[in-house]
Amino acid sequence: MEHTEVVKPETLDDLIKTLHKVFESDSINIEEVQNIMEAYESNPQEWKKYAKFDQYRYTRNLVDEGNGKFNLMILCWGEGHGSSIHDHTDCHCFMKLLQGQLKETLFEWPDSKSQGDMVQKSQRILQENKVAYINNSIGLHRVENGSHTECAASLHLHSPPFQTCQTLTSGQGTGTLSR
Ligand SMILES: [Fe+2]
Repeated sequence: MEHTEVVKPETLDDLIKTLHKVFESDSINIEEVQNIMEAYESNPQEWKKYAKFDQYRYTRNLVDEGNGKFNLMILCWGEGHGSSIHDHTDCHCFMKLLQGQLKETLFEWPDSKSQGDMVQKSQRILQENKVAYINNSIGLHRVENGSHTECAASLHLHSPPFQTCQTLTSGQGTGTLSR
């Protein structure tokens, strides 16, 4: 079988239980985690209690602490809200669209040639229920809700769990630590 067989999580709780099981193992299979998260069909009734929107910027809301192996957060993006360009320390980062659409822009790591300018690698629009994956060997990214009429919500899994990540701003070259 080429693809990892995945039992579809019927609810968010179900998804969390399945992820706990998967992360009991010391080595994680990126494709398997991605498939499990993608198989869950977003139901706002199940996650709206975590979804706190702010008028001015996107919010992070902890959903589950994942037995110390990972954490799950819901990020709520108002119209036009976006992140800075950031890396993911030594983390795996999975991002599943629960509602709306988000634009992900990937950047190369700045090197001596780029003189601190950020070089864009690719850009894509993530649709509802899709899962994106990034780590530091892939590059850095910026996530934005480009819509001026719709909110967006996304479920983020970080493993190992992290609280802070490096943020690079165009032209700055070196990282400044941000939340
Ligand atoms: Fe990220």
